[in-house]
Amino acid sequence: MYYRIVVKLIFTITVVLSLSIAHANEEQNISLSKPPTSIMQWYKPNNKRQVWLHTMFRLRREMQAIAEYSAYQDKRRLVTWSERFVKDYQSIGKMVPEWADELEVEWGARLLSAAKSGDFKGVGAAQRKIGKSCGGCHKEYRAVTAALYRGASFKDVMIEDDETMEESSFKKSMGGLSSSMNRIKIAMVDSRFEVAESAYELMSKRLKDLSGSCSACHKTDKQRNYLLGEQSMAKVKKLGALIKAKEVKQAQQTLGGVAVEICATCHSIHRTLADLREFIDK
Ligand code: HEC
Ligand code: HEC
Ligand code: HEC
Repeated sequence: MYYRIVVKLIFTITVVLSLSIAHANEEQNISLSKPPTSIMQWYKPNNKRQVWLHTMFRLRREMQAIAEYSAYQDKRRLVTWSERFVKDYQSIGKMVPEWADELEVEWGARLLSAAKSGDFKGVGAAQRKIGKSCGGCHKEYRAVTAALYRGASFKDVMIEDDETMEESSFKKSMGGLSSSMNRIKIAMVDSRFEVAESAYELMSKRLKDLSGSCSACHKTDKQRNYLLGEQSMAKVKKLGALIKAKEVKQAQQTLGGVAVEICATCHSIHRTLADLREFIDK
């Protein structure tokens, strides 16, 4: 009797556990849809302009103009904007043929004829129907498309050592930057000031090398100066002085400031998206 209760209990626990593990796994899996590759030709560098994105901006503007002129009951302008809209809306299916079926083409035609006949209510109804097709596609594809075709990839960016002229991958350089930074922290905690000083020299040098890499993509110094310009570098210099003066507490605070201002800011601009892109691109 006792034995059977124990077996039953173990069985129940096992079922509950495996159910909750299955449930947890279910929650951990997400699925993302990649856009058809035919969209690639509408993006740089395959195209001179970001054609896809600009079509989208026009669509939003045209939808707004249609709603506004409809509210004013300004038929002439409403028709003009509706014609522009229908043309751009249909171009989605021409640019990416795989998406032609996702469009409410008939509702586009109805929108235009409602506009022409001054049926403002009909225009509104058609806009709502069409709007659902915008939202449906965006939910599934917008973020992934932006990450893939507009997010910067650092896979092929190299960092050059200013002294030896040797190149290393971006990822490897990041590892080096991080270890020199942590070495400063560890050494300061343990009052090993000479080690902290040499780790500081290494970190400064690596930051300088890093700032040489921004121009691989950025045409001006604006972005580099924002993160690695005078202000940030002054903070880095201050850190050096504090280490030399053996000001443990202040040095640690300044180190934290550098990590947030330079590293974390750039990571929120560049790293998360680069990670996501690499993951999607596999
Ligand atoms: C079949 C797919 C599809 C349909 C339909 C579609 N879009 Fe898009 N749209 C996209 C994709 C993909 C992006 C992401 C482009 C990017 O960020 O590079 C996008 C991005 C946008 C953006 C840019 C958002 C931003 O702020 O960066 C706007 C605005 C937009 N769409 C408006 C519209 C409107 C309005 C409609 C309907 C009339 C529409 N789209 C229909 C696929 C679609
Ligand atoms: C592989 C290409 C690439 C490299 C290398 C790169 N960036 Fe960027 N960066 C971009 C792109 C693309 C954007 C987004 C611009 C956009 O979407 O309009 C961007 C945006 C930024 C922004 C946001 C503000 C703005 O003006 O766009 C900052 C700040 C920035 N980068 C800093 C840097 C710094 C600092 C470096 C060097 C340490 C660097 N980037 C290296 C491609 C790159
Ligand atoms: C261009 C802006 C930028 C700046 C500034 C920057 N990082 Fe990064 N960091 C990145 C990007 C992008 C990646 C992802 C690279 C990849 O995986 O290819 C990355 C990845 C890393 C990684 C992970 C490396 C690995 O092996 O996966 C570490 C650690 C790191 N950064 C530390 C730092 C530290 C510490 C600083 C400041 C001293 C810093 N980063 C400054 C953009 C930046």
